[in-house]
Amino acid sequence: MPIEWSAEAGQFHLRNDLVSYVVRILENDWLGHVYFGASLAEGKSYSHLVPGDFFGFSNRLGHPTPLELPIGGTGDYRIPALAIELPDGSGVLDLRYKSHRTFPGKPGLPGLPATYAEIGTEAETLEVVVADRMAKIEVCLQYTIYRDRPVVVRGARVTNAGESAVIVRCAMSAALDLPDSDWQLVTLSGDWARECQVERHDLRPGRQSISSSRGASGHQHNPFVVLARPATTEEHGEAYGFSLVYSGNFLVEAEVEPFGTTRVRAGINPDGFSWLLDPGADFVTPEAVLAFSSGGLGDLSDTFHCLFRDRLARGTWRDRARPIVINNWEATYFDFDEPKLLAIASAAHEMGIELFVLDDGWFGRRNDDTTSLGDWEVNLAKLPGGVESLARKVEELGMSFGIWIEPEMVSRHSQMFIEHTDWAIGVPVRPRTEGRNQYVLDMSRPDVVNHLFGVISGILGSAPISYVKWDMNRNITEPFSPTLPAWRQGEFMHRYILGVYSLYDRLTKAFPGVLFESCAGGGGRFDPGMLAFAPQGWTSDDTDAIERLRIQWGTSLAYPLSSMAAHVSAVPNHQVGRITPLATRAAVAFFGVFGYELDPTVMSAEERVEIADQVSFYKQWRELFQRGRFLRLRSPFEGDRNETAWMTVARDGRSAIVGHYRILSRPNPGPQRLRLRGLDASASYRVSVWPSAEPAGAPLRSTVLGGDELMAAGLVLESNRKSAEAGDFRARLYVLEAEERRPSPEVAP
Ligand code: GLA
Repeated sequence: MPIEWSAEAGQFHLRNDLVSYVVRILENDWLGHVYFGASLAEGKSYSHLVPGDFFGFSNRLGHPTPLELPIGGTGDYRIPALAIELPDGSGVLDLRYKSHRTFPGKPGLPGLPATYAEIGTEAETLEVVVADRMAKIEVCLQYTIYRDRPVVVRGARVTNAGESAVIVRCAMSAALDLPDSDWQLVTLSGDWARECQVERHDLRPGRQSISSSRGASGHQHNPFVVLARPATTEEHGEAYGFSLVYSGNFLVEAEVEPFGTTRVRAGINPDGFSWLLDPGADFVTPEAVLAFSSGGLGDLSDTFHCLFRDRLARGTWRDRARPIVINNWEATYFDFDEPKLLAIASAAHEMGIELFVLDDGWFGRRNDDTTSLGDWEVNLAKLPGGVESLARKVEELGMSFGIWIEPEMVSRHSQMFIEHTDWAIGVPVRPRTEGRNQYVLDMSRPDVVNHLFGVISGILGSAPISYVKWDMNRNITEPFSPTLPAWRQGEFMHRYILGVYSLYDRLTKAFPGVLFESCAGGGGRFDPGMLAFAPQGWTSDDTDAIERLRIQWGTSLAYPLSSMAAHVSAVPNHQVGRITPLATRAAVAFFGVFGYELDPTVMSAEERVEIADQVSFYKQWRELFQRGRFLRLRSPFEGDRNETAWMTVARDGRSAIVGHYRILSRPNPGPQRLRLRGLDASASYRVSVWPSAEPAGAPLRSTVLGGDELMAAGLVLESNRKSAEAGDFRARLYVLEAEERRPSPEVAP
């Protein structure tokens, strides 16, 4: 059994072969944290690991006592996990062990996205209730451990069992105390069009955090952090990963206190948050995923990839091969009509592309970004036969059809804004801030969510639509809802995202065959909360291959390739003006959910042949690109940053594709090898190079090399002697296919 309870030691031990998480009921009946890390033996007490009382200045409990649910005002001056304002205005709580239960499987979270267990035996859950008898506050701490994953998923439910309302000021999903601070904090930070840049810094005394107060997880920081030992690499060393299954305002914070211990907390950002808890009411936190690896960052990432891909994403598309898309955004922006779109679709179909996506601009009077969000009626001047006619014609070509929507928004110039001005978020007496000429709808209102469900269901039901790109192009300002009383305005941001989740939930259930892709100006809401509804997301609005090396590398720290949409676009690139070879653009975008974002009708015949070749290459290796084990080999954030290399390996190790990218050409480079990982050391691999130096469509040149050699000595990279000819921004893929094993010779008796 993965969860062991020892009444004698007052100890819970959640364990599998990969990790242990140990909790102890302390002498004062508080919940102490004992250990999280590599698996420990069962049947033993680890209570002695919790430090005894230490009597420092004004410390009651004795600190640094590691706690499962730290609260302020009681002598623990570190960052708290819970803060509640009681009816008398005080916030002092004494939460003591009351009861616990364990059960197979993992329960869902009401209204919130969550990881899940498909069968009861793959996970086990512990719920521990702690209670303050005087204040009549109960907190149920939930822990799920998966049988085969180095992961513990945590969350909390706060219940007001008293007779008066209380105010929750801070309710973290998890807090974790670690016994030292010899860690580096790794975060994925950036901004629009440069998301998920890897930052890695030593922890220092005091508090350090990432957060969002934008109403979305944001481009600026992904709700994911790693604590890695300074020596931890992709291949070796200890690392903890913390991920929040949430898309709204979040906080992940680490505090190093004077004794050198570290506390990490993750949850809803307490800044600007409060939640009035009526008698008998509950507040449920989003869940946090805590993972541990002693096998380096690569192993830690793989843990998140597998969990998010297989037990967070759900629905028809979870396990299905994702189609190759052509999206008309960068091809036409708002300037299109049906013949133009059909010409793009038809050229794309000839090259083997499978799904045409009609992006922004098909509704209302939307010929630029100043109008019409909210008026979800087709623009008949552009599409005289409506969406249905276009979708049917695309289908007749032999392609599927997808559409762009931005349900959470309204333009100032729109019929919706005229009719429902109060649906746009804002404080009635104050001006609203505009962002991209639009306002955000008040998704905390059930009437708004109902309206959107009706409108979007109408669109999806009106035509053969098999894919939706759900965009969200600005953040919330002037947070306020006229439907909430003054004392509940602190709930607004959380209620907003609950409204978004409820709309996603209803639409994905009503249209189970539709593939949803989330988007927020690229990666502005690329988080696990969204992945629970939309199994893939638009990774970034930056489609430049060189920028994408960093963005996709960073994103891959937490998210699987099956979640990262990556498209080839035209050059000069629309975000940075860079001109890169078509092959390089594809060689980067292959490592994700592949597609195009350009106008093939203006491309040369040679380029179209090249694209057709790329499409058939991706189709041949789609499973490997979308579901293989992704391993990062050479970082675009380290060294001279001139190279990047990564690979995807089949789970059985029988095939792999390595991507090697050199940004600037250098004169007179020396010979180079690249050590691979994850292969079968005893297998022989046929290694071929893509793109082939031969004309498109010609067979790849290949040699046969041992898995042992490729991992220990390394793959000799294509000769750089011809650097001058090759130029900048070069990519090479190496396709590895294991040869059939020869039957071992019979040994004579
Ligand atoms: C956002 C998206 C783009 C595109 C535009 C349309 O920026 O990220 O891909 O859909 O909106 O307005």
